Amino acid sequence: MDKLTITQPDDWHLHVRDAEVLKTVVPHSARCFGRAIIMPNLKPPVTTTTQALAYRQRIQAVTPENRNFQALMTLYLTDNTDPQEIQKAKDSTAIHAVKYYPAGATTNSDSGVTDLSKTYAVLEAMQTLGMPLLLHGEVTDSQVDVFDREAVFIDKILIPLIKRFPSLKIVLEHITTRQAAEFIGAAPEHIAATITPQHLLYNRNEIFKGGIRPHYFCLPVLKREQHRQALLDAVSSGNRKFFLGTDSAPHSQANKENACGCAGIYSAHAAIEFYAEAFEQAGALDKLEGFASFYGADFYGLPRNTSKITLLKQAWTIPDYYHFNDEKLIPLNANQTMRWQLG
Ligand code: DOR
Ligand code: ZN
Repeated sequence: MDKLTITQPDDWHLHVRDAEVLKTVVPHSARCFGRAIIMPNLKPPVTTTTQALAYRQRIQAVTPENRNFQALMTLYLTDNTDPQEIQKAKDSTAIHAVKYYPAGATTNSDSGVTDLSKTYAVLEAMQTLGMPLLLHGEVTDSQVDVFDREAVFIDKILIPLIKRFPSLKIVLEHITTRQAAEFIGAAPEHIAATITPQHLLYNRNEIFKGGIRPHYFCLPVLKREQHRQALLDAVSSGNRKFFLGTDSAPHSQANKENACGCAGIYSAHAAIEFYAEAFEQAGALDKLEGFASFYGADFYGLPRNTSKITLLKQAWTIPDYYHFNDEKLIPLNANQTMRWQLG
């Protein structure tokens, strides 16, 4: 196959940051995706409807006019989120989910939740209003091995959470393990997961190939090959519980290539092409459209896109870098050749 036409996809997990750098990263997502769920982990975080609406305007201001790209906003859950804010968010129609970061788990998560029980009234309101909870599914306990943090999260946090809020809509974001794929595969309809391109394409060896490679470091960190295979099996099965969320997370080159480098992989420049390569490797290109264009919209209760995109089997080279304010942004697979290209 050298040409693939699918319904326009959406990105159900995206970081675009703020201010000047929006001008670089938003057009990358808008070249392909119809909609994207925008993560709220700015400094300071987006915790109110008013802030989210202002942030949406800043994104809209840099969206190329010839693109029909829509930013779907989220709120950042804190210990102090007011349950009434959820009603406000729902009424705004611009806010589509609330994001849970365990305090200290990852980039800009300092204001995250210290103990889920502090947010029960908010979760109750979300359950009632049908507002999805998006989980960064890792425990932060330093006693737990960094490669086990997702699996432990499922046992210690997610299972009790589902027991307490049995009809709360939940997305376990950027899953990385066999345990998560199996758990979500067996969970009820209103519990789903997103999967990034990097977790489908690479295992943890990639971080250490010939030296330490910070541009392959994200959280949750890449796992063993058996886990990558489980994720490929999950998407190849055509199960509607799994859908596209790039977690594209731009950081400046200096913040990545650093003695304490930031977590985050930038993939927006070639997101759909990365997924096409992963699905092709798995012999599952026929399952790409459901994963990329249907199941996420269905989960969020939004109409599927109607326009189409075409991917061509046409080699091209990813640039070395993009401008990122006064710095550089190193894209995933910088200076490497891609087999698929958006037409
Ligand atoms: O690798 C990551 N980068 N994981 C996250 O959870 C946050 C993200 C970011 O914002 O950079
Ligand atoms: Zn993320």
